[in-house]
Amino acid sequence: MKRHRVILLCHEDLIPPDSSEGLTDKQLAPFKTEYDVMVTLREMGHTVWPIGVSSDLGGIRAAADHLNPTIAFNLLEEFDGVGVYDAHVVSYLEMLRLPYTGCNPRGLMLAHNKALAKMVCRYHRIAVPEFFVATMGRKVRRPQKLEFPLIVKSLTEEGSIGISQASVVHNDEKLSERVAFIHREVRTDAMVERYIDGREVYVGVVGNNRLQTFPTWELVFEKLRDGAPKIATGKVKWDDDYQKRIGLRTEPARDLPGALAETLPRLAKRCYRALQLSGYARLDFRVTDEGRAYLLEANPNPQLMYGEDFAESAEAAGIDYDQLLQRILNLGARYRLLGQA
Ligand SMILES: Nc1ncnc2c1ncn2[C@@H]1O[C@H](COP(=O)(O)OP(=O)(O)O)[C@@H](O)[C@H]1O
Ligand SMILES: [Mg+2]
Repeated sequence: MKRHRVILLCHEDLIPPDSSEGLTDKQLAPFKTEYDVMVTLREMGHTVWPIGVSSDLGGIRAAADHLNPTIAFNLLEEFDGVGVYDAHVVSYLEMLRLPYTGCNPRGLMLAHNKALAKMVCRYHRIAVPEFFVATMGRKVRRPQKLEFPLIVKSLTEEGSIGISQASVVHNDEKLSERVAFIHREVRTDAMVERYIDGREVYVGVVGNNRLQTFPTWELVFEKLRDGAPKIATGKVKWDDDYQKRIGLRTEPARDLPGALAETLPRLAKRCYRALQLSGYARLDFRVTDEGRAYLLEANPNPQLMYGEDFAESAEAAGIDYDQLLQRILNLGARYRLLGQA
């Protein structure tokens, strides 16, 4: 096995400590992913230098020049506080001719614009919720055929920023209010989609050309109060106490309706290819009781923390955490950079 010289690109505030000794779980939590990846790669014999990146590409340039890395392991989710700038950082790596892990900039750009991603998927006859974009500074005009309930979210931000139970709206007044909220608080255009009532499932995919899927994973809300929409709000994703209260857990999806158990992995691969993703990604779907699956979102470079959904579902496919990271390194090293033979 080739021993890589890895620069681990992390947010400047999330550079992991060399050891977790003396740290409580809570203290380690913010940079747990960075820590897990760094330690695991080192245990496998790779050399790893964490490089903090915030609003300056100079650190990457200096590391590329002085450390002679064979690959950049990309854990960045933003640049200078802007989510969609993550694609530009990867473009910069490509222009440096430095191999990198995870998704290429074309795929990141497509997937991170929720409207663009859905337009491309529709072209490929992949079912997506109908939607319209409510642009900042313009009056909200709901297309007549788009009926309530609708869900309002940011066009480009991730991590359920701006998503709460109030995001699901049932009339035009609430719709306008919620769009104004996204414009004002998240400061992006808003994506307004038909609310798909159903189960929420995730499919992990790895690969560049030949793709492998992991077993379908489900987000279960066991104790959410009756009638409350079962959606992954910011609180659902980030508030431990709330997670306990609503009985949140993720697990292999069981007894999926219709033929979904067989068709979802194929569908996930079609989405991955349609959006030109590479490396690894998680495709999120809502499935209805009638057995229809709608793509909600494509997440290139999903959370890689040990024990998180993506790694857990890989493990269920027989791929341990170190094997998963090695696979991601190999895919990055093999991805053919544009302009190279
Ligand atoms: N059209 C929809 N129908 C039902 N639930 C939705 C829909 N869109 C989003 N959601 C809920 O909101 C959550 C976050 O939306 P998503 O588009 O994945 O944004 P983010 O990038 O913030 O994760 C989803 O995981 C899902 O629970
Ligand atoms: Mg999501």
